[in-house]
Amino acid sequence: MVLALASASAMDLVQLAPQRAAAITNPLASDEQARRAGAKLYSRECASCHGRKREGLGKAPPLDRADVYDASPGALFWVLRNGSLYRGMPSFAHLPEPQRWQIITFLKSAR
Ligand code: HEC
Repeated sequence: MVLALASASAMDLVQLAPQRAAAITNPLASDEQARRAGAKLYSRECASCHGRKREGLGKAPPLDRADVYDASPGALFWVLRNGSLYRGMPSFAHLPEPQRWQIITFLKSAR
């Protein structure tokens, strides 16, 4: 699996999520409080790499892109759980699950 990830350079990480993981739905989707909490968490946990406005910085890709907005919440959850350690995306499995869903609510709402 690690080899498959490493060689899939042309593929977005979100597209590598297994179907079973991608099918999981966000219990906090479209929840305004969750969106606001997610925006704060984003500034604290993600902005240093992905940019304050999700514009991308260095190796970290922009997150204000159609394929991130259109990704299934479960695929984003999978990315946050596993990261892409060899390519510089940390795992956020240490954050409680509700906080990870809040971040996803924010990412998907902030178009
Ligand atoms: C230490 C820097 C760093 C931090 C902090 C970080 N990321 Fe990343 N992220 C990356 C890099 C580098 C990649 C590209 C990985 C790859 O190409 O495999 C990435 C990829 C991603 C992707 C996949 C994008 C795609 O095009 O498929 C998502 C989604 C993502 N990050 C979300 C987040 C979120 C949400 C946070 C905060 C909870 C976060 N990242 C924090 C560096 C970081």
